Amino acid sequence: MNIGVVGMGYVGCVSAACFAEMGHTVLGVDTNAAKIRLLARGISPIVEDRLSDIIAEQVLSGRLAVTTVLDHAVQQSDILFIAVGTPSHADGSLDFQQVEQVCLNIGAALKVKEEYVSIILRSTVLPGLAETVVIPLLEKYSGKKVGDGFGFALNPEFLREGNAVSDFYNPPKTVIGQVDELTGDRLQELYSSLSAPIFRIGLAESSMIKYTDNAFHALKVVFANEIGRLCKKFNIDSRIVMDVFCQDTKLNLSPIYLKPGFAFGGSCLPKDLRAITHHARQADVKVPLLESALTSNLEHIQFATDMVKKDHRTCIGILGISFKEGTDDLRESPVVDLAERLLNEGYSLSIYDENVLSARKRGANIDYLQRHTPYLDKLLADSVEEVLNKSQIVLIGNRNRAHHVVLSERSNGHHIIDLSGLNEHQHKNAEVHYEGLCW
Ligand SMILES: NC(=O)c1ccc[n+]([C@@H]2O[C@H](COP(=O)([O-])OP(=O)(O)OC[C@H]3O[C@@H](n4cnc5c(N)ncnc54)[C@H](O)[C@@H]3O)[C@@H](O)[C@H]2O)c1
Repeated sequence: MNIGVVGMGYVGCVSAACFAEMGHTVLGVDTNAAKIRLLARGISPIVEDRLSDIIAEQVLSGRLAVTTVLDHAVQQSDILFIAVGTPSHADGSLDFQQVEQVCLNIGAALKVKEEYVSIILRSTVLPGLAETVVIPLLEKYSGKKVGDGFGFALNPEFLREGNAVSDFYNPPKTVIGQVDELTGDRLQELYSSLSAPIFRIGLAESSMIKYTDNAFHALKVVFANEIGRLCKKFNIDSRIVMDVFCQDTKLNLSPIYLKPGFAFGGSCLPKDLRAITHHARQADVKVPLLESALTSNLEHIQFATDMVKKDHRTCIGILGISFKEGTDDLRESPVVDLAERLLNEGYSLSIYDENVLSARKRGANIDYLQRHTPYLDKLLADSVEEVLNKSQIVLIGNRNRAHHVVLSERSNGHHIIDLSGLNEHQHKNAEVHYEGLCW
């Protein structure tokens, strides 16, 4: 393929060099003439393992060429990558000026190009900017329509500096946020020799994935360091702790606990988080990330409360009140917290939970119910149907599939809010207004 890469920084240099090494004809563009002079002599402008050798070889072979003239790259390319910088302004907001300038120039050059070019935004951009700024600029200055006169996709980069070449050939994944099928197909073909899974998804989701990944990486570093500070204070070897932690790929380094749904609760997580943060405070060890987890959790319960309040009806049904499916345990259930907030706001509630009910019939949790949540005990219904009859809004509190099944068959005109994130709930009744808490 004929590939253009606009912006020969860390991302652009690695992409251009590796695409050339894969056998494509690549033209790299940068406004920085000093960089272009170095690259034209086969010298890498950045320090990166293996990159100097690849650039030297590919420039010598003629597969990698460079220019300061953007127009040349637009005219010669089937696929044109934008890899210019998106730094921060002083207030933290995204400085989008380099991308805007490039789009304006590419748009003008596209005007006179007859062949269909796929424009690929590789730079990291906030969700929404491709749709509201990038594509409109390209359309305005080219006089063409996306998907008709030119193609467009987002293709975020996941490389790590220092391992960039190796990460290019072995990425964790390839994400293609495509507008048009042809551009998606071209990118898929371009990456077909890499073993990473390819995800072809929407524009907004693909930019959000990049921010989600980096937010999580930052969170992991901060988490590990807070554990490290605690360990040091208490003369515990954090390397042993985190080694064992990381070897748990069932609950720790796994998709468990990483699906958006409702707040955490139960008899362990809130209690243990409170204990360890209290212990840290007493020892004067600052752990702001751990401290913030409980605050964030309460915020999520308030978020659900506010979502209910947007619907001005007042009869609420709750299916599943224990802190998670498969248990009757009500201790620190976030659904109980939500129910209390709604009761305080004057809503009338009807609640069904098959596990809580069966434990109650056996007398197992009667003490807890009467001592801690006597008001909820009185609101427990005997069936999903009874809840449906008494309510206008139905909250799915946990992932008990039995509740979901009955609900999908029997609900009629209810506003259903799924707090659980189960996301498998198929309603047969088109009249049902169904909303997820986080989607
Ligand atoms: N560096 C990383 O490890 C990394 C990893 C993944 C994603 N990203 C993202 O990729 C993008 C690029 O990052 P980077 O670190 O390579 O940036 P960089 O600042 O190193 O490189 C940007 C290059 O674009 C050039 N440029 C600016 N305006 C131009 C124009 N109008 N025409 C041609 N060239 C122009 C600059 O001269 C510079 O060489 C950013 O959005 C970044 O967030 C970076």
